[in-house]
Amino acid sequence: MSCIRSLVLLQTSTRSLIRRFVLFVAFISASLPACVGEAVSPQRCVVWGPGLDRDPVVPVRYFYIQAVNSKGENLTVSPGKDTFKVKISPLDKKEHVRIHVPPPLDRGDGSFLMRYRLYGSSQAGLSVQVLHGDAARFPLSDPMIPHFSGPVYHEYCDCPEPDASRWRSVMQCPPQEPQIQADFESFPVVDLQLLRQEVLRRFSNRGGLVHYAIIGNRVFRRTLGKYTDFKMFSDEMLLSLTRKVRVPDVEFFINVGDWPLETRTEGAVPILSWCGSTDTRDIVLPTYEVTHSTLETLRGVTNDLLSVQGNTGPPWANKTDRAFFRGRDSREERLQLANLSKEHPELLDAGITGWFFFRDREKLVGKAPLVGFFDFFKDSQYYEHFYVHLKAGAHYVPVRRNLSDLLEKIRWAKDHDAEAREVARAGQRAAREQLQPPRLYCYYLQVLQAYSQRQAGRPTRHPDMEPVPQPDDQAAACTCGRERPPKEPEDREEL
Ligand SMILES: *[C@@H]1O[C@H](CO)[C@@H](O)[C@H](O)[C@H]1NC(C)=O
Ligand SMILES: *[C@@H]1O[C@H](CO)[C@@H](O)[C@H](O)[C@H]1NC(C)=O
Ligand SMILES: *[C@@H]1O[C@H](CO)[C@@H](O)[C@H](O)[C@H]1NC(C)=O
Ligand SMILES: *[C@@H]1O[C@H](CO)[C@@H](O)[C@H](O)[C@H]1NC(C)=O
Repeated sequence: MSCIRSLVLLQTSTRSLIRRFVLFVAFISASLPACVGEAVSPQRCVVWGPGLDRDPVVPVRYFYIQAVNSKGENLTVSPGKDTFKVKISPLDKKEHVRIHVPPPLDRGDGSFLMRYRLYGSSQAGLSVQVLHGDAARFPLSDPMIPHFSGPVYHEYCDCPEPDASRWRSVMQCPPQEPQIQADFESFPVVDLQLLRQEVLRRFSNRGGLVHYAIIGNRVFRRTLGKYTDFKMFSDEMLLSLTRKVRVPDVEFFINVGDWPLETRTEGAVPILSWCGSTDTRDIVLPTYEVTHSTLETLRGVTNDLLSVQGNTGPPWANKTDRAFFRGRDSREERLQLANLSKEHPELLDAGITGWFFFRDREKLVGKAPLVGFFDFFKDSQYYEHFYVHLKAGAHYVPVRRNLSDLLEKIRWAKDHDAEAREVARAGQRAAREQLQPPRLYCYYLQVLQAYSQRQAGRPTRHPDMEPVPQPDDQAAACTCGRERPPKEPEDREEL
């Protein structure tokens, strides 16, 4: 028995407002040897995700495949990493679109993550075939498939959706982001005139600020200070966003340094930063690592937020039941952690990977080699944009900052395996949900919208701001069928 699920990414022009994407599923039976592990029932496999829809444009499109057995139950362990094969091709065989289609990533829990990257736009639409067992040809001439029309745009296509609220619904943005609401509470009004003066006066010597204006959906900027190389990350995100959706006219400052800046409560200015803290008023954006890894997924970046879903290590039952920590010596508690680890190696494996702040202690504690893994240790007043969605006890096991209850918590986790497993699962689910690529784009747009609604004064391209151009190479070529934003007259600049 083999399962062939074929999905066609297409638009039916007549009913496009109701259902712009038609899912076509074909089953073809053939006698094939049974697959690895528990038998997968071909007809019952479930396929879902934004990559099966034409409209949500993200650098790497993706969807999920859930393996299901003959009783209709979801498999909870992997049926083997080669269980499914996926073929993606333009519906119109005359259309040449380069599509990078790596094999599905086994998430180890009975589900698979399928990613693909388009290096061109498809006017006609795409055919997506999910094959279980041996590949078989999908009948493209099938009369059941109605009328196809694309277009399916790729990442570099400069083709913004003019209606931001429509874009938000396509991307399934949450209506509100609690962190954005909280961050803007201090800023009912953003007086641009005052902002320009105050930021220059108070922060221009900090060296890590970039002054942006987005006017007519074009990005302009100037840098303030020497340490602004990381503007490449804010540039690439803003360019990627403006290729997808029309952004309101805004003028703002991004702090590309490591730490938030605004410590005032009275007379605070809204600065966008990649890191927030309970002691500052900066408006937090997804970190540049999260942003960059999303943009560069499948282009050589290791540990991007999609591929880590497949690298979850051994199944729960086989995991080492010890707490694990690696990190730099940035806080004294971390040294204590390494110390505790020596006393209780059966409970804790903690090591310091780099010594910068407490070098005199290195001899005593020693140095551990670096390991690649996803750090989720919540130990300070600093936070990222999605931490607000994580609840102590539900998504992670909270530990006191002075570590006085650490061993107790680890022993608890060892003695309550089922509960600990549920916390790990919930934490993983929350991270997968919050860090999925469409969410990051939503977050950026929502910050810029909230900001623009509060702006007083006209966002302006200043004379020393340079345009940040969209890529102008072969990869950017596309035929955009959407309404173009009106061109801004060039002479409407002011100081
Ligand atoms: C099986 O998995 C799919 C996809 O995650 C989910 O929508 C469905 O509710 C699950 N079914 C059961 C019976 O748990
Ligand atoms: C998990 O442990 C079991 C029993 O020790 C072993 O048979 C199995 O191969 C292990 N699985 C993995 C993925 O390490
Ligand atoms: C490590 O723990 C021992 C025993 O509790 C203590 O005497 C020592 O000062 C600790 N060292 C550090 C570096 O914290
Ligand atoms: C650790 O912090 C808690 C409060 O969070 C306090 O009650 C406790 O006394 C502290 N322990 C040590 C050893 O400082």
